[in-house]
Amino acid sequence: MAMAIKELRPQPTSPVQSRWRRIVTPIPVPASVPLIDRLRAAEPVSTSGMPPILWHEAEGFLVRDQFGNQWIDMTSGIVVANTGHAHPHIRAAIHRAADQPLLATYSFPSQERLLLLEKLAKLAPFPDAKTILFSSGTEANECAIMLMRRHGQRLSPDKVGILSFEGCYHGRTLGAGLSSGSNQPTDWIQREQVKHYQIPFPLGPHCPWGCGRDKPCGESCFHKCIDGLAQRNIRPEHIAGIIVEPVPGWATYPMPAAYARALSDWAGDNDILVCFDEVQSGCGRSGRFFASEHVGTVPDLVTLGKGLSSSLPVSAVIGPRSLMDQPAPGDMSSTHGGNPLCAAAALANLEVIENENLVEASARIGQLVLEELEQLQQEFPRHMLSIQGRGLFITVHLTRPDSGMPDTALGDAIVHEAVRRGVMLFVTGRGFLKISPPLNIEQEAVLEAIGVIRDCFLELKDQPV
Ligand SMILES: Cc1ncc(COP(=O)(O)O)c(C=O)c1O
Repeated sequence: MAMAIKELRPQPTSPVQSRWRRIVTPIPVPASVPLIDRLRAAEPVSTSGMPPILWHEAEGFLVRDQFGNQWIDMTSGIVVANTGHAHPHIRAAIHRAADQPLLATYSFPSQERLLLLEKLAKLAPFPDAKTILFSSGTEANECAIMLMRRHGQRLSPDKVGILSFEGCYHGRTLGAGLSSGSNQPTDWIQREQVKHYQIPFPLGPHCPWGCGRDKPCGESCFHKCIDGLAQRNIRPEHIAGIIVEPVPGWATYPMPAAYARALSDWAGDNDILVCFDEVQSGCGRSGRFFASEHVGTVPDLVTLGKGLSSSLPVSAVIGPRSLMDQPAPGDMSSTHGGNPLCAAAALANLEVIENENLVEASARIGQLVLEELEQLQQEFPRHMLSIQGRGLFITVHLTRPDSGMPDTALGDAIVHEAVRRGVMLFVTGRGFLKISPPLNIEQEAVLEAIGVIRDCFLELKDQPV
């Protein structure tokens, strides 16, 4: 979905000073405008959708510019900084790695990579796990799709199809782009010509078979999807794998357990592999280490990224040895995958998640946030369709009272107003407000931020935007 690019016209703000928020300039800051303008001249417009704030420092759950302003961060970058921005333990690990004259190793053996891989094998949701490292989420998903297609081809030359879900997001490279069903432009790729098929995500409130908010989609919805494919002559014999976010990043509506069970049983019965994309939902974000723990089924492959390092670019595909060892030496690798600095950052990050009990913190504070937002929903029922999520992975679904359609304009207006008041949110362009602060945010800070969002609602909900 195209996002409106905010004009760079400084607007006065009311001064804000709290324990965590400080706004002392117009927004955008006049002195930042020439720099942001130069950035916009040098980058494609596709990167200009976020609020025009020149990030200078991000530490813990706070973001600062160099002009004296400070925000409570509800974004974690884009759901990256699970352990908070620039955690001292991670910075120290990166420093140590950078001080050693070893900045790139490709697939040559390295100790940093070994330590991270062994840690991930312990965390894996299945025994006998192996992991391959990449730099981005999209690469990890590309690799998972390749592994699933190879697996299918071993059974039959035609078993190469991939099933994915409308509304999920998997990245921007070709296979990941084909798998993504979000409102991004995919018209440049002809999905079904390359045997890639999509079915609706089991999102009760939007279920094509009439489930609804109080009745989650279950087995029968899954089988209706599969019957629909069969009517188009797409059969399980043609499908090698399924890729899905167990809790999709945008809507944060967990796949209902009964639906997930039906999917997993059907896949098992038909030699189809299931990959759970946990690039965004993983590493404690949802209040469990893997979000798939909420849906109660174990996949064949898991992909991780973002919160795996909370910092430098690291992603991973984890799978059982039998699957991961299919490609021959040299057939599956990445130049920068497992780079020593990135591996050191990811290992330190996993240590912080464990030592600071951040999975538990995410569940505990997330529950509080959910309750607080549910109260807001009672206050603004005409504008808030629902609040969804687990842990600190929460979405407010906004709706237009006149049409019932997602209220994109109100969502984006609230984001910009909240930023003017010292709360950092990202623009979704989808009628969602995404609440995804670092997992170690202080309870009072997150409640203060929600109070600010409420004030923005009160001011903007009935204004033409
Ligand atoms: C669920 C999911 N998968 C994959 C990706 C792609 O990751 P990257 O942007 O690192 O390629 C994202 C990014 O937002 C994501 O949310």
